Amino acid sequence: MITLAQYLNEHSANAAVSDLITTVTEVGKTISQLLQKGALADILGEAGNQNVQGEEQKKLDVLANDMLLKALAQNPHCAGVASEELDHATPANKDGSLLILFDPLDGSSNIDINMAVGTIFSILPYQRQGHSSEDQDFLQAGSQQLAAGYLLYGTSTMLALSVNDKVVMFSLDPDSGDYLLINDHVQIAADTSEYAINASNYRYWRKPMQQYIDEVIAGETGVRGRDFNTRWVAAMVGDIHRILCRGGLFTYPFDTKYANKAGKLRLMYEANPMSLLIERAGGMATNAVTRILDIEPTDIHQRVPVVLGSKNEVDYIKQLHIQHGE
Ligand code: AHG
Ligand code: MN
Ligand code: MN
Repeated sequence: MITLAQYLNEHSANAAVSDLITTVTEVGKTISQLLQKGALADILGEAGNQNVQGEEQKKLDVLANDMLLKALAQNPHCAGVASEELDHATPANKDGSLLILFDPLDGSSNIDINMAVGTIFSILPYQRQGHSSEDQDFLQAGSQQLAAGYLLYGTSTMLALSVNDKVVMFSLDPDSGDYLLINDHVQIAADTSEYAINASNYRYWRKPMQQYIDEVIAGETGVRGRDFNTRWVAAMVGDIHRILCRGGLFTYPFDTKYANKAGKLRLMYEANPMSLLIERAGGMATNAVTRILDIEPTDIHQRVPVVLGSKNEVDYIKQLHIQHGE
């Protein structure tokens, strides 16, 4: 079988990118081991403080963040690190050619109940080599990403990755400690009857999203003429993984639940890297109307509505928004 190291050697055009991915995936092995021990490693529960997003941090949010930050800051190719959990980006080696952004632990509410969580990462070029990096340097559209991926700590630990025009998947072999290639061409079917949404926010959505959900719930008795099915992992990594495996739609749409938050998910740490994977696997990724990868960021922590997955379903939602003049 092909190891991650062999794959990167053959298929990544940028040795620095490969090196950064290796750093992330090595830390991922440690996070995976800690999760396997769970309560026995004292990693469950609250850390007792809030992050920059105003969210209560779990012990593992902090632990994963610190391990990734420490390892990446020591990588000579890394000019700076931005994390969902830190107020500002951390400058690293000013001669490095790359910036990295990550959500160290996605799906935090799943940690304490022994359910799937993950790590999401995005790699951008660094334009000001020789100078110390600042938050501003990270404000690049998702289309500029050189690579993106996630680690899913589920019943097994898996890595989904794109370093070229393809999406590939690896499974961590607990015996050898190697990530082994299990799918060298991930593709998402254009049609689907499966969708993921937290429907408890229904009353906060815009009209077109409410209409979409009304239609799929009506199933074969409504305009869609067929039944749909819901799945919600509460960890974006889990939902995106399912979509890469068997298609589907995932949305965390615009809502008015909290003032000044255009939805829950973060553009730089969640939406951009996942959109890169989804598009390169043949799917579509929008904020309901606009392509996510074209959004010019204004803040490293900005939030964005997300609608992504099987192409025809994402496009259907886009048309509903256009019809409603959104
Ligand atoms: P995080 O744990 O990094 O804060 O992200 C959680 C996100 C995302 O992974 C998931 O899809 C969503 O929040 C779940 O939101 P609800 O709790 O509203 O269902
Ligand atoms: Mn997250
Ligand atoms: Mn997180």
